[in-house]
Amino acid sequence: MVDTIPSFGLGTFRVAAGKTAQSVRSALQLGYRHIDTAQYYDNEAEVGQGVRDSGIPREDIWVTTKVWWERLRRDDLIESLKVSHEKLGIGAIDLVLIHWPSPDSVVPIAETLAAFQEARSLGLLRHYGVSNFPAPLLEAAVKAPGGSEIVTNQIEVSPFLANRALVEATQKLGVKVTAYMPLGEGRAHTDPTLVDIAKKHGATPAQVTFAWLLSRGIVVLSASTNAEHQEINWDAQKVKLDADDIARIDALDEGKRNANPPFAPKW
Ligand SMILES: NC(=O)c1ccc[n+]([C@@H]2O[C@H](COP(=O)([O-])OP(=O)(O)OC[C@H]3O[C@@H](n4cnc5c(N)ncnc54)[C@H](OP(=O)(O)O)[C@@H]3O)[C@@H](O)[C@H]2O)c1
Repeated sequence: MVDTIPSFGLGTFRVAAGKTAQSVRSALQLGYRHIDTAQYYDNEAEVGQGVRDSGIPREDIWVTTKVWWERLRRDDLIESLKVSHEKLGIGAIDLVLIHWPSPDSVVPIAETLAAFQEARSLGLLRHYGVSNFPAPLLEAAVKAPGGSEIVTNQIEVSPFLANRALVEATQKLGVKVTAYMPLGEGRAHTDPTLVDIAKKHGATPAQVTFAWLLSRGIVVLSASTNAEHQEINWDAQKVKLDADDIARIDALDEGKRNANPPFAPKW
């Protein structure tokens, strides 16, 4: 079994119905060992299918899913995880995250963490964590019973939202940062600074973006259904940026958040 979250994963949000299984299978065959899904994406069954079809041993693969914020009460969480477990069909889920914190902490974090531990004892999951937690909520979660086992805080990070304070606060608590929407909704492909740095390295702007995240100790999620893009993205792990490149990318930060739904916490 994989015991730590692999540093480069495939995302599956907004993948067209019917395309997820093939995209998961192709990524796994290229070398990816980490797949990210969520109850909300309505594609857990296809993710499980892709894992089974890949021919890669189950124990070499890390699959993350997420529980929607309306299912964080103990009974709802256990019930919803039984459904995720059944849909995925891959045995215990490697990692389950709270997708978004309970608005105004209506469901106490301690209740959800205790339910995660119960779900683990039922064989539904192996590890748990959080997503979209600002620093004060994350700190409270880590201090709650069972909170020291939180594996990651999955948050939006891109060159245009470096999210520096939250990244540093998360890492200081001993929790891994996982970055979603790393390309700033496609903006990275044409950003002149990223294009320029990419030219210097014989790389693409997407690869440069992923290399910058990896250099900050951040786990990267990139989503693509296109096998060529998947391979290019995977190869970003070979790109080594120098201090000047990193400083130039750091300077692109505008604090521009793309994911900010009405139920989001106060950032
Ligand atoms: N926790 C949360 O609240 C949350 C929120 C959002 C996302 N996520 C997770 O994070 C993952 C990544 O985020 P994302 O899907 O928004 O963003 P992303 O990976 O930044 O962008 C995906 C899009 O970029 C395109 N793309 C990827 N690589 C490319 C390349 N090398 N060249 C050209 N186009 C490329 C893809 O098109 P093609 O398919 O054509 O390649 C796709 O349209 C999600 O899939 C999901 O698993 C989590």
